[in-house]
Amino acid sequence: MRDGAVAPSLSLKAALTQVGAEVDRRFDVMLAVPNDARAELYQAMRHAAIGGGKRLRPLLVFATAALFGVDRECTARAACAIEAIHVYSLIHDDLPAMDDDDMRRGKPTVHRAFDEAVAILAGDSLHALAFEWLADPATHPDPFVRAELVLELARAAGPSGMAGGQAMDLKAETATFDLQTVTRLQALKTGALIGWSVEAGAILGRVPPEGRTGLRGYARDLGLAFQIADDLLDVEGDEVKAGKKLRKDESAGKETFVSLLGIDRARGQARMLVDQAIDHLRSYGQEADLLRNIARFVLERDR
Ligand code: IPE
Ligand code: IPE
Ligand code: MG
Ligand code: MG
Ligand code: MG
Repeated sequence: MRDGAVAPSLSLKAALTQVGAEVDRRFDVMLAVPNDARAELYQAMRHAAIGGGKRLRPLLVFATAALFGVDRECTARAACAIEAIHVYSLIHDDLPAMDDDDMRRGKPTVHRAFDEAVAILAGDSLHALAFEWLADPATHPDPFVRAELVLELARAAGPSGMAGGQAMDLKAETATFDLQTVTRLQALKTGALIGWSVEAGAILGRVPPEGRTGLRGYARDLGLAFQIADDLLDVEGDEVKAGKKLRKDESAGKETFVSLLGIDRARGQARMLVDQAIDHLRSYGQEADLLRNIARFVLERDR
């Protein structure tokens, strides 16, 4: 391993703490507040992006990049880019026009702490910054690698990915979706950004697409298990630990794995997906243990 920030032997807790600190430190620099009329916009981005969240997506970038000996600086920039997209998606998800939530990561949501216009623009800005950071030569010396990171992130964030999944999710409040449709919704809404997080390390390591099959299978199953766990937390979780309002899906009449299968079968499905995700890593040895531990954590998490 050349200089990956996260050694594969590190415990999951230590790895999450290390990556969280690294992301906070970088956001602090990259989102420095300017001394002009944009100050509030930057403060809103900092409010949402610094000091909170599990940093699961950045950790996935680090864990995969470590498999291929990717340089730490490159890895960290990709990790911050995906977290910026994720934070933007949360800011907009919480807006009154969408889930209308007051708490996120144990703090008031951005439109509550600031106002709706600032929240919309803070989301827009983090969205754009993610692509700016990726396209910068500091992310990788090879422009083809940078272009692939940008192309894949655009796919994962747009109408064929997260934004498309969010649109389906809003329809899930009134439409009756079958299991296949809910699976597709979740794969887009949550799975696509998780998929990019896993694949980015391989792209940075110049692994050709045919060498990424196992990782893609891992990411697909992990993403679904992750969203089922989020839906289970919505029913069973503790609001203080989760740092957000829960028991919203049922009151919104939203079709989820839990509404379709019930709690026990949904949990069984998530367990099966975690086992399947781990099985996709069979061609890797101990160096993939962090990825295996992340898959187990997704189910055990309480926030
Ligand atoms: C919450 O994501 C929204 C979903 C996609 C389910 P996380 O559970 O990763 O939220 P943070 O980043 O830890 O706050
Ligand atoms: C949000 O899903 C997913 C994205 C932001 C893409 P949810 O609406 O279920 O997430 P929470 O429960 O508010 O974190
Ligand atoms: Mg939502
Ligand atoms: Mg929400
Ligand atoms: Mg939820």
